[in-house]
Amino acid sequence: MNATILSNNHKHYPVLLNEILSIISPQNGGTFIDCTFGLGGYSSAILNFPKTKVIALDRDINSKKFADSIKHLNKDRFFFHNSKFSDLDKLNLENENINSIIFDLGFSLNQIKDYKRGFSFESKGSLDMRLGLNKFSASEVINKLDEKDLVKIFKYFGEEKDSKRIAKSIIRERKNQLIDTQILVKIINSSKKKNYKKTHNSTKVFQALRIFVNKEISELIKGLIKSVKILKKNGIIVFVSFHSLEDKIIKTFFKLLSENNKTSRYLPENEKKINILKVEKKKPITPTDEEIKINKPSRSAKLRYAIKINDLKIIENEIFEKFKYLIDIENLSEKL
Ligand SMILES: C[S@@+](CC[C@H](N)C(=O)[O-])C[C@H]1O[C@@H](n2cnc3c(N)ncnc32)[C@H](O)[C@@H]1O
Repeated sequence: MNATILSNNHKHYPVLLNEILSIISPQNGGTFIDCTFGLGGYSSAILNFPKTKVIALDRDINSKKFADSIKHLNKDRFFFHNSKFSDLDKLNLENENINSIIFDLGFSLNQIKDYKRGFSFESKGSLDMRLGLNKFSASEVINKLDEKDLVKIFKYFGEEKDSKRIAKSIIRERKNQLIDTQILVKIINSSKKKNYKKTHNSTKVFQALRIFVNKEISELIKGLIKSVKILKKNGIIVFVSFHSLEDKIIKTFFKLLSENNKTSRYLPENEKKINILKVEKKKPITPTDEEIKINKPSRSAKLRYAIKINDLKIIENEIFEKFKYLIDIENLSEKL
C-alpha cells in the first residue's frame, strides 16, 4: 500500500519520517534526492534543516503543484523533475555530491482517492492506473491480453490464488462489453472461491495490474542500480516498500552487494569481489504502534537502508537474471 495518508483533518503523514531523518542526518547539511516526491513530505522535512539541498522527482505530473509551492520558498535549494526514477542517470547529476537517496514506493492516498484514475476498486470510471509517463493503461491489459498472460500477471504480481478463474471470467465477459473498474470488481467477486474478511476480494488483482501497468519491477531494479552508481562514498540509500515483491527485490539486491566477502579467500586477487554496500540492519525497520494508530496504511511499510562503501561494478546482468521470471511477465506488455 501507499506511504501517505491525508487524515480527516487533511494532515499529511509521510511514513517512517523520524526514522528516515535519523538515518540520513540532514542536520549536517548536504544534497538529498527524493525519488518519490508525492506531496513532498520527506522533501519539506529535509529542507527544514539549513544547508540542505533537495533534488526531487515524481512520475506523476500532479505532484508538480506541491513541488511549486516548495520551490517558491526554497528557490536555490529545491529542484523538481517530472521523471521516473529509472531515469535518474539522465538528470545531469555528475557534479552533485549526493549524501542520500530516498524511495517511498507505491502510490499516495491522493492518487488512490482520485477515482478517475482507477487505482481503487471504489472507482466508478475506466481502468486506468497510470501513475504517469506510461505507455499503456490497465484497461488495455484487461481488454486485450490473452487468458494465460492475465493468469501470470495476477499470480506473480498479486499472488492471487484464483487467478485462473478470474482470467477465464474476464475473457468470457469482455466478449459482451468493455471491462471497466466496477465490472472487474463484479467479475472478481463472482470468481473467488472463498471470501476473505480481512481484505477486499479485488485487492490482489488491482495490485497486480498497478505493478504491471507502471512496470514497477524494472523501475525498482533500475532505481536500485542507478542510485548506487550516483551516490557519493559513505552516502546512504533508503527504501520504504509496501509489498513482499518489492521487499524481496531490495533485500536480494542489498545481499548481492554486501556479502561478497563471503567468497573464498583462496580465489585469485583479481577474481575476488569487494563489498559495495554495508547493510547495518538485516531486519527491516517498521512503523511503531503509535504511527500505525494515526496512519493505518503505514502498517505494511518496511524500511531498509544501506551505506555505499565502494564504487559499483557491473552487476546489471546478475540482478536482472535473478528476477528474469518477473521481467518476462512485465514484457508481456510488448503484445499491446
Ligand atoms: C507513497 S508516495 C510518496 C509520498 C511522499 N514520500 C510524501 O511524503 O509525500 C509515492 C510516489 O512515488 C511516485 N512514483 C511511483 N513510482 C515512481 C517511479 N518509478 N518514478 C518516479 N516516481 C514514482 C508516485 O507517483 C507517488 O507520488
